[in-house]
Amino acid sequence: MAEQSVAEPAATEEEVEPTAVFLRACRGLPVERTPVWLLRQAGRYQPAYRAIRGKHSMLEVIRTPELAAQVTLLPIDSFGLDAAIVFSDILPPLVGMGLDLDFVKGDGPRIGNPISTTRDVDLLGAPPAEETMAGTLEAIRIVRRELEPRDVPVIGFAGAPFTLASYAIEGGTSKDFTRTKAFMLSEPAAWKRLLGKLVTVQADYLLAQAAAGAQALQVFDSWAGRALGREDYLRYVAPHNRELYAKVAAAGVPVINFSLGVSAYLAEAAGCGGDVVGLDWSLPLDEAWERVGFERPVQGNLDPVALLAPWRELRFRIDDVLDRAGGRPGHVFNVGHGLTPQTPEDNVRRLVEHLRERTST
Ligand code: CP3
Repeated sequence: MAEQSVAEPAATEEEVEPTAVFLRACRGLPVERTPVWLLRQAGRYQPAYRAIRGKHSMLEVIRTPELAAQVTLLPIDSFGLDAAIVFSDILPPLVGMGLDLDFVKGDGPRIGNPISTTRDVDLLGAPPAEETMAGTLEAIRIVRRELEPRDVPVIGFAGAPFTLASYAIEGGTSKDFTRTKAFMLSEPAAWKRLLGKLVTVQADYLLAQAAAGAQALQVFDSWAGRALGREDYLRYVAPHNRELYAKVAAAGVPVINFSLGVSAYLAEAAGCGGDVVGLDWSLPLDEAWERVGFERPVQGNLDPVALLAPWRELRFRIDDVLDRAGGRPGHVFNVGHGLTPQTPEDNVRRLVEHLRERTST
């Protein structure tokens, strides 16, 4: 008979209670103050970011680990936010699958060879993230080393399958998603294969980001809620999102499910998976939290345009979000969609200071 060991097994990273307020709130643990980070916290509202983008294209910044790490750290150093999100975009993983991506000034992302036939779907590859997203994985390692001593966690992220499929089919950002929906309804088998491939690639990418040091992961589903009614969401998207969240749970880090514009089916979208539910700005926080269940941590949900208002109005809106959170454990303060390029840096600074003053115990 094998000798029994009396020693306790060594605690793995996820078994030790984290000290960082962001990671504690992601697990619903009590915190000494409400953690805050902001969607698109590194970006054009910062002169330092614009200076770097003046010298390098978007894809250069993303693919050069030192530059991506530098941009990731800008808002941490300037404002003392409680988490860093690695600087990248949701679209670069499509390049490894065979799509030509560019960011066109003033016009946003462009795919040069969008999908239009079932054959295009079958020609898409699914190479490992270590090969295709090495720059971002290295940026995560650099940022983690830099922030570990300050106990500021690093967040990795990826796009959800519908949102990525919409870019792959439309060739860019769309208002009405006509091509995407027409393809979905006309070629349901190829649609399934397409979303299946996207799930494979994004799950692998998210797991690779956690292995590189990301301590939380966020999935952005920016367009399913804008494009689809509830029944279509449940039929054509939810099974794929469920599969993605099930695969990514193996990372052993908190996963944030941010689905934009899903107020008509928030509980169903949240039910696809993830530990934390990212709330957009469309519903009052308490009402949205009740719909997903108070036992689940939430992140949100200040309207980012409130940062363009005078401080009195902005402070009123911040306090409203905090009042609605009601001091329950499991609240990460954030905006309910990305910061706009017009955001005054001073308002970001004041927001962070105000949260510290108001919520510190
Ligand atoms: O949050 C962060 O600070 C991390 C960086 C980040 C970017 N994009 C940088 C970016 C993240 C998490 C994203 C996600 C992203 N990208 C989403 C999901 C979230 C959302 O906003 O709904 C989507 C839909 C995209 C696609 C995308 N990328 C669009 C539509 C655009 C053009 C519009 C715009 O805001 O410029 C981008 C470009 C982009 N991604 C920029 C940045 C900083 C601007 C690039 C520049 O000109 O410098």
